[in-house]
Amino acid sequence: MSELPAKRNIPFSPPDISDAEIEEVVETLKSGWITTGPRTKLLERRLAAYIETGRVDIDCDEPANVEKYSNRVGCLNSATAAEELNLRILGIGPGDEVIVPAYTYTATASAVIHCGATVKFVAIQKDGDPVTHAPEMDYDALEGAIGPKTKAIVAVDLGGIVCDYERIFEIVERKKALFAPKKSDGTPLGDLASRIQKAIGRVAVVSDCAHALGGSRTFRGKKTYCGAIADFTSFSFHAVKNFTTAEGGASTWLPLNGIDNAEIYHMFQLLSLHGQSKDALAKTKIGAWEYDIVGPWYKCNMTDIMAAIGLRQLDRYPCLLKRRTEIIAKYDAICDSLGFSHLNHHVDGMDSSNHLYLIRIPGFDVEQRNAFIEQMARRGVATNVHYKPMPMMTAYKALGWNIKDFPNTYDYYHNLVTLPLHTLLSDEDVDYVCESLRDVVVKEF
Ligand SMILES: Cc1ncc(COP(=O)(O)O)c(C=O)c1O
Repeated sequence: MSELPAKRNIPFSPPDISDAEIEEVVETLKSGWITTGPRTKLLERRLAAYIETGRVDIDCDEPANVEKYSNRVGCLNSATAAEELNLRILGIGPGDEVIVPAYTYTATASAVIHCGATVKFVAIQKDGDPVTHAPEMDYDALEGAIGPKTKAIVAVDLGGIVCDYERIFEIVERKKALFAPKKSDGTPLGDLASRIQKAIGRVAVVSDCAHALGGSRTFRGKKTYCGAIADFTSFSFHAVKNFTTAEGGASTWLPLNGIDNAEIYHMFQLLSLHGQSKDALAKTKIGAWEYDIVGPWYKCNMTDIMAAIGLRQLDRYPCLLKRRTEIIAKYDAICDSLGFSHLNHHVDGMDSSNHLYLIRIPGFDVEQRNAFIEQMARRGVATNVHYKPMPMMTAYKALGWNIKDFPNTYDYYHNLVTLPLHTLLSDEDVDYVCESLRDVVVKEF
């Protein structure tokens, strides 16, 4: 057994910010327009083009593309806000139930609670999906959980691995007879929500793509990117994500029969900016000071400083994804040789966004897993756990959830470790993580 090379310091997930992002931020600061404005609108169009085509080189200032890609993505200050606004535009509120996997981050569930609706947690499959090993919902349990109060299912593309949406759509179609769309309450939001529920005509499929920008799956026979699969989708651009605007997020949705995308987009704008009928940029036009407040709503808009980071990140995004794929290939090789189960990010018909590298160590209990994390830290390698299941958290226990009712979910978590996966890792760093894994296993366990 060779000795571990000199200790390195490997952080878990630092942001990858180049001079291009820095220069764009400086230009924005000097431009005189730093809150929601032209850069946010351009980022929204470029994200819409990326979601449709997987391309980042489409000129979204060109008039035909301004027309084509406007009103399709709404940038916000977080994925949590995007999730909540998705649910609010869907008219979800008190008396409604929303199904959420028990294996996720709290935002997936807390957004439901913020809307006044009830979260219904569903367990994950034993050992996750048989091919990707991602902690996907137990789809039979999901089908069984749908009742007359169910208004939406939030699927989570955890780690960037795209769920089996074909199966989720089949399930909601089969349960269509149970679904009754909400009646309009006469308010602008209530009226739009009622029309959206009628147009969808079944339980809505909502996607938490906080990790999954750029992930794709064969869907209805065609390679389809995250954001173009579920009825409504949210993305996160938080500092630890593949693609960052420091904090930030976005919502997108599929076009709906009989409803103009511009109307849905406008409602996102209203919900994110106090229900104010004109944003700051519109108010700068000559004589255009006056505005109305159409609802007492929220404040979660994206600023142009954030969008400036995003515009330059998007230019680099295909290269960033490629680098992550290279790192994953090295991790796959070492984990296979050590007998660790791991996420499979690239399988027939699915390419993930390469966000998180989860491993599970056979035979380990929780204490051994935690000792393993400590031993990696002693060698300078930061690791993590994604996630401690929601029914183990105080807030959700207080709502009556008990992890004992979710044995497969607990089992998945108990021996799980997340390895550092980011684009500041050099080849030598990746080799060092791999050698540290082997060293810990051989010397400590
Ligand atoms: C699965 C999932 N959903 C939602 C969020 C919330 O993202 P944000 O911090 O942008 O609100 C996160 C954040 O890590 C997440 O991991």
